Amino acid sequence: MTIVEKLQEAIGMTPTYTPEERAKVRAEAMDIAADVPWFSTILEHHIELEEAFANVKEAADESSRAEAQQILAFLLTAHANAEEAIVYPMMAIVGEASGAKHAYGEQAMAKMEMVKLDEIPVKMSKDYLEKLEEIRLAVAHHMMEEERDLFPTLAEKASDEQNEKLSVKYDEEFTNYAGEPDYEDDDAQDAA
Ligand SMILES: [Fe+2]
Ligand SMILES: [Fe+2]
Repeated sequence: MTIVEKLQEAIGMTPTYTPEERAKVRAEAMDIAADVPWFSTILEHHIELEEAFANVKEAADESSRAEAQQILAFLLTAHANAEEAIVYPMMAIVGEASGAKHAYGEQAMAKMEMVKLDEIPVKMSKDYLEKLEEIRLAVAHHMMEEERDLFPTLAEKASDEQNEKLSVKYDEEFTNYAGEPDYEDDDAQDAA
């Protein structure tokens, strides 16, 4: 069973949304996030993750693909750690424990699959691209659930103080792992 099939089984549904439906969810999430700094930062990180996945896929040779994979893994871990440290616990506190547990499970699976990807020796191989796409679809589905259901609910149920705490702590936890985002400097150097 693929990771996507496991996810589909876990949630009891098959994701059948179109790109237009996905864009609508993103736009609605951005509207909500305009007044919710932690949600707005997370949306920025989701967009960066989408770009990081695309960069791995589009890499033209082994070494550039290895480098793009490192950047993807770095960003994915920084983002996941910050959600796991403050966002999912707060979901449980406001009465959304089952959503939190579900999200923890999906992220644990993504972390395991990223190491499997790293273990594939030939990065320009078909096996590598298939594993990459499997993970990309699973992460895309997870982000869709966060943007459409989990995080709008959290933003609404959390008190002003809890939303403030989420914003401060998400940034803190992300920075604890990522420090200053020098992966952006790498991009700037590549473009120069
Ligand atoms: Fe997440
Ligand atoms: Fe997320």
